[in-house]
Amino acid sequence: MKVNGKSYRTVWMEGNIVRMIDQLRLPHEFKIHECKTYLETADAIKNMTIRGAPAIGATACYGMAQAVSAGVSIDVAERELGATRPTAHDLFDAIGFFRKRYNGSNAAAVASSYADASVERCRKIGEFGQRLIKDGMRVLTHCNAGWLACVDYGTATAPMYVAHEKGRKFFVWVDETRPRLQGAKLTAWELSQCGIDHAVIADNAAGYFMRRREVDIVIVGADRIAANGDVANKIGTYEKAVLAKESGIHFYVAAPASTFDLEARTGSDIPIEERGGDEVAFIEGVRITPEGSKARNPAFDITPAKYVTGIITEEGILNPWEKPASLV
Ligand code: MRU
Repeated sequence: MKVNGKSYRTVWMEGNIVRMIDQLRLPHEFKIHECKTYLETADAIKNMTIRGAPAIGATACYGMAQAVSAGVSIDVAERELGATRPTAHDLFDAIGFFRKRYNGSNAAAVASSYADASVERCRKIGEFGQRLIKDGMRVLTHCNAGWLACVDYGTATAPMYVAHEKGRKFFVWVDETRPRLQGAKLTAWELSQCGIDHAVIADNAAGYFMRRREVDIVIVGADRIAANGDVANKIGTYEKAVLAKESGIHFYVAAPASTFDLEARTGSDIPIEERGGDEVAFIEGVRITPEGSKARNPAFDITPAKYVTGIITEEGILNPWEKPASLV
């Protein structure tokens, strides 16, 4: 994707340094963050300098390469990187990919091939998904499942970018997603860079616009998809799905095969990260709740498969109970 006219991936490796777009500074500052060791790379995932399921996966794979190239044992590297975030399945997919292909001397090549394959998966998601976006449509997306959440293209946004390239005119409602304001800060920034017409709305406003028939389709990403089609995604996704069903609006999930976890039978088997309450109690460093009020902060929720119209994958648009052919 282009930033001020220059092509970037979200994360890449040069020599033994992992570089990434610093997502904690967007949209106000565009800065490249450098990780010189695999522990710094693990920290960048943990503190969400980089985030989003496929981006976490690619970064972890680069981290594995950094570690083994510096003489760290592969088991130690896996332990550190695998403990960074619990929900995104791509993290474990990437570490597994690295372990399977690393032969003692090809670390950087294995990690680059994972990142390249991830880009290709998202590009294909865009190709399959673009046909859902017709001229004049109003698309709603939640959180950031954009190219910042991947290595390129995005998952939920990939169909939008391809439709845009094809010259289709459409509009995007961007949920801001408290507590981390990822729609407002990241998705709105991406769409602005690309020149796609959009408006940021408070999370609570989605139902209002759906009821007024101002939303034609919902497309979101996923952090993990269970064998029965239940979807873990950013907190608030479940509400959007229920509202969409109630309003007769199609609700699509866009995700690569690397996000499917067939060992999780249903959404109840998916570990949900609960983050610190301060993310709820503070905005940009300013407390907005009374001192002493407790806060809870689940980062993801589960949308039961019955609310999902289809899952846009790199292998085609699947019914929620279907699995990508490459996994079965
Ligand atoms: O907590 P995050 O920012 O890592 O969560 C990201 C999301 O929930 C995205 O919607 C999801 O990863 C889909 S990714 C393309």
